Amino acid sequence: MLHIGTPLSSSAIKVMLLGCGELGKEVIIALQRLGIEVIGVDRYDNAPGHQVAHRSHTIDMTNSEELRKLIESERPHYIVPEIEAIATNELARIEESGLARVIPIARATQLTMNREGIRLLAAEELGLSTSKYAFANSLDELQKSIDQGIGYPCITKPTMSSSGKGQSFIKSPGDVVTAWNYAKETARVDQGRIIVEEFIPFDYEITLLTVRSKDANGKTITSFCEPIGHRQVNGDYVESWQPQPMSDLAISEAKKIALAITDNLGGYGIFGVELFVKEDQVWFSEVSPRPHDTGMVTMVTQRQNEFELHARAILGLPISTELSSHGASAVIYGGIDGKSIVFENVEKALAIPNTDIRLFGKPESFIRRRMGVALAYGNDITDCLTRAKQAASLVKGVNIAF
Ligand SMILES: Nc1ncnc2c1ncn2[C@@H]1O[C@H](COP(=O)(O)OP(=O)(O)O)[C@@H](O)[C@H]1O
Ligand SMILES: [Mg+2]
Repeated sequence: MLHIGTPLSSSAIKVMLLGCGELGKEVIIALQRLGIEVIGVDRYDNAPGHQVAHRSHTIDMTNSEELRKLIESERPHYIVPEIEAIATNELARIEESGLARVIPIARATQLTMNREGIRLLAAEELGLSTSKYAFANSLDELQKSIDQGIGYPCITKPTMSSSGKGQSFIKSPGDVVTAWNYAKETARVDQGRIIVEEFIPFDYEITLLTVRSKDANGKTITSFCEPIGHRQVNGDYVESWQPQPMSDLAISEAKKIALAITDNLGGYGIFGVELFVKEDQVWFSEVSPRPHDTGMVTMVTQRQNEFELHARAILGLPISTELSSHGASAVIYGGIDGKSIVFENVEKALAIPNTDIRLFGKPESFIRRRMGVALAYGNDITDCLTRAKQAASLVKGVNIAF
């Protein structure tokens, strides 16, 4: 039986978020609403989630010692990673020693922090259909992999990266050197190892939010949200909508893949399973063992949004993936570089019927930094998308001296 105590007292259930960006911020809000004490951790001060947590810390989360010291002093019951760049081996040791529970489970965070781990599991161990792929440690190896089977066009990515960073589209042999150098320069941890993937000419791509939770009898069950369609530019999400229309065959294949991968990863929480679809054919791309950026649309489309689903699943509470409306999301970019920027035209954006926005409160803006999101709901996805994009484009970041 679950006892939820009182935050900031000895009976509190304490959750530590590792990563306090826009997704972490919403998870924290969902947990707070359930009476949980939340500790927000990020690598910089005043991160979005820091601003709504009970307490916050700024540390290097890739440093095992710093991470363990903080966990030992805060003694959270649950540790909820929001990002990939964490000392996940330390999380595994913490889980093993029973110090705290890692969400969804330490092994899932270890496997997904590196593209190699999750790709080998999906393609070789589980036999799921993926793009053809190879790993390369040098330009020479990259060229050989392409020549010996991956072919053109293809895509290269550092094995440790996210949000499209270091990713290149290789159309022909002339692009290979540039792609190799770009991946090497931007790799999150300079391992110098990249993945090269056959380019899949999909009709559309989706995130299938998949929840592993306990039902009312304590049995572990898997539930699926309606598929979320999205558009990526240079590997980064710019718009998403829900539900994405799919053929019966494609959706059933998508669920089969999502079930296989999440069953293997295990634990409790929400997963964002990324899939490519062409007619009835479905390819597994990657999976996040946590809420997904494209899933921000669920803040206006589901009775329980992806953050609330994560919070409930973590705590062992029953969930529902019921849709309340169709909807769309569009990213609001900073548009400028600068600290303490100001947003204009919010009133104009919100004058568009059935729209909403979130401004994340990031202390520093970059031209292409995601600073907020516009949301629109209604009966028709195309119309929702038009309104979300219109609202997003109205909100402008400006530098004003105070
Ligand atoms: N093999 C591929 N074929 C076609 N498009 C791809 C392929 N790999 C990646 N992409 C495109 O790039 C986006 C980002 O790639 P992804 O592997 O998800 O990286 P990240 O971890 O940075 O999100 C995908 O959502 C998709 O639009
Ligand atoms: Mg992705």
